[in-house]
Amino acid sequence: MKELESKTVVISGGAEGIGLGLARVLGGHGMNVLLADIDVEQLQIAEQILKDCDVPVLALPLDVVHCDQWHRVAEQAIERFGKVHMLINNAGVGGTSGGVEGADEKEWRWVVDVNLMGVALGAQVMVPHIKSHGEGGWVINVASMAGFGPLPTAGPYTATKAAVVALTECWRPELAADNIKVSVLCPGFVKTRIHESGRNKQARYLDGDAQSASQGGDMGGVIESVVTTGMDAAVVGERVVEALLADELYIFTHPNYRSSIRARWQAVDAAFERAAQSPLLAGDVVPELPFGSRAAD
Ligand SMILES: NC(=O)c1ccc[n+]([C@@H]2O[C@H](COP(=O)([O-])OP(=O)(O)OC[C@H]3O[C@@H](n4cnc5c(N)ncnc54)[C@H](O)[C@@H]3O)[C@@H](O)[C@H]2O)c1
Repeated sequence: MKELESKTVVISGGAEGIGLGLARVLGGHGMNVLLADIDVEQLQIAEQILKDCDVPVLALPLDVVHCDQWHRVAEQAIERFGKVHMLINNAGVGGTSGGVEGADEKEWRWVVDVNLMGVALGAQVMVPHIKSHGEGGWVINVASMAGFGPLPTAGPYTATKAAVVALTECWRPELAADNIKVSVLCPGFVKTRIHESGRNKQARYLDGDAQSASQGGDMGGVIESVVTTGMDAAVVGERVVEALLADELYIFTHPNYRSSIRARWQAVDAAFERAAQSPLLAGDVVPELPFGSRAAD
């Protein structure tokens, strides 16, 4: 595909799951692929899969919470491929399910660091490189349907995914001047190992007395059953290409969730209507701020 051919994509969390699905599809459309992931064993397997498909690929270790590691990835991407055109902030973890008291401080910090700070740092480091060549490009942040409506008892996950949707809406108008298109991918359940995210939990987020990689961080049995029967990551990848070429801001893959999201917006609109009708607020004039006004452009 002309728009993508010979351009370079950096994919965080690219060693498996949705990230690898995206890599295979974008590589199939002629892109150079840089896979970056905390899981070095899976990374090698993923690199070989892409090599076997004749995709130009470089695989590098990356923990998305470390800015210096992002800089190293950027340098090596440019050394190998010359330029970076697309960043996919895909690395993410599920975190423990269990309501208000279900996640301790370390668990919260892990989910916020990987799912939110990882996205912020990735963009902060990569966007200047995408700007620098003047050819434009893309930033795709991977959120979730949870970014639009709560995944019950998964507070940290839901909060970070809502934040990623919000960040995307901030960045889209900001980066339009540099012809960088910003989108947020919001899948429903996809067949990956997201329900076993604890396998890659960094030591500092584990409790001292039980330094086991399987400790915490797994979303639980209910999520496992819907994830393991979820959509194929390859379909998600193809859908992303379709949406990129149409410059979609919100990239959805599961249209069956439309009615529940619509119900949420209707509840918000009804709440505004009650405020508009409140005698307490009649005649109260405040300056207009551009809240949300340009997000959907
Ligand atoms: N699977 C789903 O149902 C689903 C639904 C909506 C959104 N998502 C989102 O899709 C993204 C990809 O998840 P997935 O479902 O493919 O799960 P996955 O667990 O199969 O893949 C996640 C990848 O991220 C990597 N990773 C984890 N922590 C990292 C870190 N600190 N630095 C770098 N890499 C790290 C893992 O090693 C893994 O390769 C996540 O952001 C997730 O929240 C998944």
